[in-house]
Amino acid sequence: MTALTLSTAAASSLRADVIVVGVAKGTAGPVLAPGAEAVDKAYDGKLAATLETLGARGGEGEVTRLPAPSGFRTPVVLAVGLGTAVESGGRYDDETLRGAAGCAARALAGSKKAAFSLPLADAAALGAVAEGTLLGAYAFDAYKSAPAPRRGRTAERGGKAPLAEVALLGAKPRDKAHKAAVARATAVAEELNRARDLINTPSNDLDPQAFAALASTAAKEHGVKIQVLDEKALAKGGFGGILGVGVGSATPPRLVRLSYTSGKAKKSLAFVGKGITYDSGGLSLKPVGHNETMKCDMSGAAAVFAAVLAAARLGLDVNVTGWLALAENMPSGSSTRPGDVLRMYGGKTVEVLNTDAEGRLVLADAITKAAEERPDAIVDVATLTGAMMIALGGRFFGVMGNDDGFRDALHTLSEEVGEPSWPMPLPDHLRKSLDSPIADLQNIGERRGGGLVAGIFLREFVPDGTPWAHLDIAGPAFNEGAPFGYTPKGGTGTAVRTLVGLAERVASGGVL
Ligand code: BES
Ligand code: MN
Ligand code: ZN
Repeated sequence: MTALTLSTAAASSLRADVIVVGVAKGTAGPVLAPGAEAVDKAYDGKLAATLETLGARGGEGEVTRLPAPSGFRTPVVLAVGLGTAVESGGRYDDETLRGAAGCAARALAGSKKAAFSLPLADAAALGAVAEGTLLGAYAFDAYKSAPAPRRGRTAERGGKAPLAEVALLGAKPRDKAHKAAVARATAVAEELNRARDLINTPSNDLDPQAFAALASTAAKEHGVKIQVLDEKALAKGGFGGILGVGVGSATPPRLVRLSYTSGKAKKSLAFVGKGITYDSGGLSLKPVGHNETMKCDMSGAAAVFAAVLAAARLGLDVNVTGWLALAENMPSGSSTRPGDVLRMYGGKTVEVLNTDAEGRLVLADAITKAAEERPDAIVDVATLTGAMMIALGGRFFGVMGNDDGFRDALHTLSEEVGEPSWPMPLPDHLRKSLDSPIADLQNIGERRGGGLVAGIFLREFVPDGTPWAHLDIAGPAFNEGAPFGYTPKGGTGTAVRTLVGLAERVASGGVL
């Protein structure tokens, strides 16, 4: 990953390939953001005017390159747009800074070293710039033959290597708050990028077994305890949901328990992730056009995994247990059939009428198991329904739950960390559509409000009195469009920062 350094060097004396400054939309044309002063001075105060001549307006996502002023040891200046200018004395908000840093880092793929001289009003702003930089510089090139081809551009970044090093100008290497902000951003971004790698890894290389093995290695590196239930243990334990989904696949399912404990913890959180390493739909096979991105159906598990590791690396004073419900949903002679009845962990029976509604089956087992340990709250994360994607589009995830206060806290938190979400209801009138004529429940119900019906199904497995929230990330988990801000094409790692944010808040006595 991109190496970050805190630097008090002067813009003119630092040696780098490029120096990045911020430009914003003023009422009468582009205006420079704090941090650009020294560069502007070297252009005799004409940088904003020059940028305007070059067509720059200061809008979000805009990048403009120009030759550096004489005497500089960086050949190029890159101005990155910040959107609407804040009044003097104001402060650019964290998400704007993340986005701008991310755009700049992405635009600079192929460069070795950049100096970022962006507005750093406080340590939080520095953390945001650091986070945006590390997330924006991300590239998934594991399957590109090396060396990167000069012609035949790869879709996203022309086959260029990610920006190798960034000096953050104005960040004080001896300031405790500055150092802590960059260290936090680095831990979170590294784990989030690890989640993106997992999501982007094709299903032929990431089956439940491979995911569990990878999790073991990483967990041990960071002092996180891990237990893996294989198919035998799952059968012995009665995990009918996870087994029923994975039984058609040549690669058997797993349930992974990760646990980070702090000696000073007063509260415990359980995170549960849907980890379908490939969702073909099973015997209720998905049609062409609906299965091409289904390697991303383990994004919830990837987010949970990353969040537990990040909590451990940050040494938060809260206990966090992560549950990864891993299975591959495939059609075969041994697959669960539409009409089959599964006995779930905990004893409830479910008639499977559509094998493509598999996420709720693996989650039901994992939620029931997680709840046995009596955590103070449970959050599940899942690419659960196409319906949620239709409802909220590709950038927002839906937040549901059994406790409006907890649900709304997660929604607020997600917006604060830069992961857009929207609260959704779990209306009781939809519950009866999940009644089965022969079992306790059936796995599909009323089509209208399909995302809510899935949430209502999960609610049946949460014990009364345990605050529970359900994040349906089907929309934002995988970006099929062009990259934007610090979000790449492909796996996004959405929900990681919401989970980490929750753990941080709970550790410091908030939310619960
Ligand atoms: N993994 C899918 C949901 C999904 C769709 C995620 C698109 C990401 C992008 C899930 O397992 C699924 O197939 N859900 C069905 C449920 C239906 C059969 C009740 C759906 O949404 O169509
Ligand atoms: Mn499915
Ligand atoms: Zn699925």
